[in-house]
Amino acid sequence: MPSVFDSADLDALIKRYDRPGPRYTSYPTAVEFHDGFTADSYRERLTAAAAAITEPLSLYVHLPFCEERCAYCGCAVIATQKREVAATYLEYLSREIGMLASHLGGRRRVVQYHWGGGTPTYLTLDQIARLDATIRRHFDIGSDDECAIEIDPRVTTREQITLLRHLGFTRLSFGIQDFTEVVQEAIRRHQPLDQTRALYWFAREAGFDSINFDLVYGLPRQTVDSFRRTLDSVTDMLPDRIAVYSYAHVPWLRPNQKVIDPADLPDASGKRALLGSAIDTFVRAGYVPIGMDHFALPDDDLAIAARERRLHRSFMGYTTRPAPDSVAVGISAIGDVHGAFAQNHKTLARYYQAIDTGTFPIERGYALSDDDKLRRYVITELMCNFHLSRTVVEAKFGIDFGEYFANELTNLGAPDGPIADGLLDADNESLTVTPRGRLFVRNVCMAFDRYLASHQGRPVFSRTI
Ligand SMILES: C[S@@+](CC[C@H](N)C(=O)[O-])C[C@H]1O[C@@H](n2cnc3c(N)ncnc32)[C@H](O)[C@@H]1O
Ligand code: SF4
Repeated sequence: MPSVFDSADLDALIKRYDRPGPRYTSYPTAVEFHDGFTADSYRERLTAAAAAITEPLSLYVHLPFCEERCAYCGCAVIATQKREVAATYLEYLSREIGMLASHLGGRRRVVQYHWGGGTPTYLTLDQIARLDATIRRHFDIGSDDECAIEIDPRVTTREQITLLRHLGFTRLSFGIQDFTEVVQEAIRRHQPLDQTRALYWFAREAGFDSINFDLVYGLPRQTVDSFRRTLDSVTDMLPDRIAVYSYAHVPWLRPNQKVIDPADLPDASGKRALLGSAIDTFVRAGYVPIGMDHFALPDDDLAIAARERRLHRSFMGYTTRPAPDSVAVGISAIGDVHGAFAQNHKTLARYYQAIDTGTFPIERGYALSDDDKLRRYVITELMCNFHLSRTVVEAKFGIDFGEYFANELTNLGAPDGPIADGLLDADNESLTVTPRGRLFVRNVCMAFDRYLASHQGRPVFSRTI
């Protein structure tokens, strides 16, 4: 793997391919969502989904609160020290969960259950226990299911870890980012290594045998040398999974990022060096690269699924347990139900107002067309498995791949396109992203995105590298 990222021509490729582009946590991306998709549209989708009574669900719970806002953060967050704000939110959240469950009728089986944020461990022990009990009253979540929660090691207590394990959570995702002090100063996030390490070992003792670490590369003042020290501290602990996200600098969407001096940010080739050093360190430590930005120990479920090319991706990230419908509760949360995306209101006021009138708190959404579903399949396969079988697509969607995607294949095969650049192998059977093409997989997927052209010149997406 290191040789793939060390080649001299990579800088030239990065210069050509580094451009704004989606991360494809969904296709079509959230930019296409519109307010013509309403609470009524969502209710219709839920009614249809309820009929598939034996099909499993995936359930996401958004807990937006944080004590303070980190400067680099791109998530939907409410920074407040006023605990009563969260208490009110939880009351409304319970009501939303009740409405959702009653529309889903007997469809209760959840195979993937995820609390994200913000910082879910902002909540007190009692609040965590009560919210989990409300959810389990309405949905069936088994002890073998994937029950995951994002935790911020700076604010998570040992009592919370013990409680979460007792409630049945099986996976913890630790926010790490970078242990270097100057980087932490620049992103306004003070997180001593010792504190994180102590909590990690406590969680292991408490019985969590699946722990993920989130890192970010491309942060202000990051250098390859300092990042390597963070990477070594991480591999010393040996978490089961590691996500290393490219820093998305989108100050026009996230004004908290405006305090970051653009002069402190590494350029695209600096980012490539940081990612190269992460890949190098993780592969040497025995991890297997998964999808775009994840690594896992070889016996982890994700690594096994990646080897068998059966990895899936949802708003919650890579998963081995796909459910045909994903429901999501809390402000700004996005569900994917019966062929449509539905996003909740982003402000507390609107979210509360909708629930007070007995309406689903939908702000906008998107009903997928047949063409969207086909392209979504193509893009998801490339993002997850770096491979697409043309024959499978033809059988699944009843099309002739060469005819349907004639323009896309011509663009990919252009003299200065991904095939000529050795990023993609293509023949009559399949498309396969090459090891050196993995850094550019977003660019390959962009060839299949029919909406991109309409956003040209507008600052909508972060950069691809
Ligand atoms: C919703 S946050 C929750 C983490 C938790 N609150 C904490 O801070 O530890 C999940 C992850 O998103 C990633 N993240 C947040 N902002 C990002 C950005 N602007 N670019 C890339 N990744 C980002 C970080 O790795 C973070 O740990
Ligand atoms: S990184 Fe985590 S703690 Fe910091 S603002 Fe974002 S969600 Fe909150």
